[in-house]
Amino acid sequence: MTIAKTIARLLSRGMGILLLVTALQACAVKSTYIPRDESETGLRDAAEALGLHIGVAVDAQELENNPKYAQVIQREFSSVVPENALKLDALQPRPGEYSFTQADAILAFARDRGLPMHGHTLVWHRQIPAWIRNEKRSADEAEALLKTHIETVLTRYGTEIASWDVLNEAVGPAGGLHASFWLASIGTSYIPKVFTWARKAAPEAELYYNENDIGISPSGGGSRFTNPLINYKRLMRKSQTTYRMLEKLLARGVPVDGVGLQMHIRPRYRPTRNELQQTLRRFALLGLKIRISELDVALEAPVTEEKLIAQGEIYSDVLAACLAEPQCTGVTIWGLSDAHSWIPQVFKNLDQATLFDENLKKKPAYYSLLNTLKTWCEKEGADSPRCVKSGTVVQRGESR
Ligand code: XIL
Repeated sequence: MTIAKTIARLLSRGMGILLLVTALQACAVKSTYIPRDESETGLRDAAEALGLHIGVAVDAQELENNPKYAQVIQREFSSVVPENALKLDALQPRPGEYSFTQADAILAFARDRGLPMHGHTLVWHRQIPAWIRNEKRSADEAEALLKTHIETVLTRYGTEIASWDVLNEAVGPAGGLHASFWLASIGTSYIPKVFTWARKAAPEAELYYNENDIGISPSGGGSRFTNPLINYKRLMRKSQTTYRMLEKLLARGVPVDGVGLQMHIRPRYRPTRNELQQTLRRFALLGLKIRISELDVALEAPVTEEKLIAQGEIYSDVLAACLAEPQCTGVTIWGLSDAHSWIPQVFKNLDQATLFDENLKKKPAYYSLLNTLKTWCEKEGADSPRCVKSGTVVQRGESR
């Protein structure tokens, strides 16, 4: 029977109104959420009701000098991560001379507002100060330097900052290890060592491995692998290498508690919700907690209304994948607004990657995320795990 005939029969049986109402409800759920009142629930409250943190990368100077910036962060987000203030070049600009001012300021802001703070990042191949990079060092010297750095930072912040990116981007784009000063001077053993040192210095802290471009994996879908400009094999190889590396580390008893997926999404390619969800499940089966750690969705100039709407859908797909994965603890947006985003500084012709425009006005992507949070239980069913949880009181910052 054709669809038209079925509809005609149903209508003739008086089911027209029911059908119409159902169709209207479906449209309402799909469309971008338009708030009636600025005082309505913000992202933070809507996410908290589902046991999820929604975080943002922040800058100490903006927090200090721009009251509106601080106000929006406080209203909308339930955790913060310093965008640069905990990196090696910021913390130890000269040998043995630490500079904690900016990290302290962000921590004070977070503490005053009861916001958990995530630490990013103890070890990375970038933002290493010249005094380290430019000197030839033996393996022992490089190791001592890195160990002391980790111990110093975690002795200071290891209890107040409860979760850390211990290691960032150790896997390279082609699926081997990423070239870095630490790999070159210490060798591959730097990877397990940094986690072991971190656990010893901050036994209570959650230790994460953070990586980019691992949103798809060999098990993660495949139906959309049709864009000739994308090297899917390469992306999958990277995700696979990361997975195997974590699997090996865990098998050897190396203390890794979680994995962060950065998700700096380019307009050309984005994992579908399904691809991403399967990838998250796969990492979760290793027993790891999961964070979407640095989400932004860059747009190509010229930016149009359609691109802004499509951007919102991408944001929501990523959020939905996290919501659907019980071990996903939350999503962090990499920069508060388009005026603060790193994207245009680094990528030519890409811009407007965040939830707020340059005047801190909410963009379609903001409403799309809010809508996804608010309609989650309606769509997934009240008995889905996050919705059962939301019937109980979830304290701000409570880990699930
Ligand atoms: C970026 C910051 O946003 C910029 O301000 C800085 O100039 C360079 O680093 N992956 C990461 C982040 O893990 O630390 C990077 O942050 C963005 C890519």
